[in-house]
Amino acid sequence: MSHEGRNYTLRIWRQKNRTSPGKLVDYKVTDVSPGSSFLEMLDMLNEQLVARGEDVIAFDNDCREGICGMCSLTIDGIPHGPERRTTVCQLHMRKFADGAVITIEPFRAKPFPIVKDLIVDRTAFDRIIQAGGFVSIRTGGVPDANIIAIGKQTADVAMDAASCIGCGACVAACKNSSAMLFTSAKASQLNRLPQGKPEKDRRTLLMISQMDKEGFGSCTNYGECQAACPKGITLDHIARMHRDYAVASFKDVFGKVL
Ligand code: SF4
Ligand code: FES
Repeated sequence: MSHEGRNYTLRIWRQKNRTSPGKLVDYKVTDVSPGSSFLEMLDMLNEQLVARGEDVIAFDNDCREGICGMCSLTIDGIPHGPERRTTVCQLHMRKFADGAVITIEPFRAKPFPIVKDLIVDRTAFDRIIQAGGFVSIRTGGVPDANIIAIGKQTADVAMDAASCIGCGACVAACKNSSAMLFTSAKASQLNRLPQGKPEKDRRTLLMISQMDKEGFGSCTNYGECQAACPKGITLDHIARMHRDYAVASFKDVFGKVL
């Protein structure tokens, strides 16, 4: 199949390290197949930079299948770019007209410091998950786990929550840099299920406390997080987390957890 290669001007954020000032630098990339992914297009640019002996663009990626959450780029001002419910690695160049100028920046949020160029440090998310801890009840082997009957609606909510890939687009999209969508999804995937109930209160209080300690802002219902999420995580999880938090705070009157 033949294709007409497209040419682009890429306006890319370059920053040597966490402390040095960064700036947007223009690059030309030529003869890009419309069928190539956004990351393959960046690979092409990097090959051209290597050939010229220049420093390559540092960007995060891993699975390139929309499941690991590593490909954290803001494209033309939108975390994960212009296609809804699509991670950068699954975005194709046919979305961008020939000759377009494309601005590529890292996810911007104070708790996500820049490591280099387009790579940010998102270990704050890991610490929120760690704060939530584990489930203490024995779930047995794979067949045993099915002995606990779970209603379809509950299972669906938990499964939807579990599809969060921890990419951080919700934070980058939010004016407050709130991590509520992420944190509520990570809490919901356990809090909604019977196996997650014993630690529900503790988990909710600790995860929210860690989120605050990491410096994420509070949620004021802009809803940009939901719009930017490549996995379709909805605001309902935030509402559920608010409810869980109210219940847990009430029970925690003696400060047993925090
Ligand atoms: S809630 Fe969505 S946008 Fe936020 S980290 Fe999870 S998958 Fe990414
Ligand atoms: S590289 Fe894994 S989700 Fe994009």
